[in-house]
Amino acid sequence: MSKLTLDRILQSQGFGSRKWCSELIAAGEVSIAGKTITDNRVAIETSGLVFKIFDESWVYHRHVYIALNKPADFECSRKASHHPGVLTILPEQFTRRDVQPVGRLDHDTTGLLLMSDDGPFIHAQSSPKRHIPKVYAATTHDPVTPELVAKLLAGVKLHDEPAPLAAVTCRLLAPHRLEIVLEQGKYHQVKRMLAAAGNHCVALRRSQIGGLKLDALGLAEGEWCYLDDAQLVLLKPD
Ligand code: URA
Repeated sequence: MSKLTLDRILQSQGFGSRKWCSELIAAGEVSIAGKTITDNRVAIETSGLVFKIFDESWVYHRHVYIALNKPADFECSRKASHHPGVLTILPEQFTRRDVQPVGRLDHDTTGLLLMSDDGPFIHAQSSPKRHIPKVYAATTHDPVTPELVAKLLAGVKLHDEPAPLAAVTCRLLAPHRLEIVLEQGKYHQVKRMLAAAGNHCVALRRSQIGGLKLDALGLAEGEWCYLDDAQLVLLKPD
């Protein structure tokens, strides 16, 4: 249980500076359970709080944990340069509360991307020590051969990597499609591993992180959702 004044609540949720949030409250733009709140001095319980600003409902979240079905042509870097950043897909208050992508997908990679404003969560999910499997479907230029699958499972040497990197599992989906599961998150890892094994990746989609499957979330490309506690548990290593 934690109580805060409404201006602090709105500020924490990314609606602007405390002064701006006080002005919104004074202007009668904020309501809770159908009642307009103009008095900023009352402390309000945040747990389970639903409030409306400009007639739009918001649920209070101490931290947000978001799954996005990333479309192609969006960058994950904070200072996107050639394409718009993935944060532009989310409501703008998420940027103000410092939501960040958890790890990176290339601008042309689609699929499951986690985003959060919880620093320890981002750190833990990105840590190579956690060995969280990530499942990708790669479309290849040349047909997938048993030799290619064998090489990816045995491990391929990448430039700048001291030891060969191997897929946890790897299987043929279609003549030009391969499912590959990786536990590391090295730069362009799937594309570089496919190139090192003698093929070329022409399209890449991440379908699963840990036990969390994108298809189970029912998100069309460009759509996002909050993750609940049960879904967050699926992201923990076994
Ligand atoms: N491997 C890649 O090559 N690119 C990605 O976006 C993710 C994994």
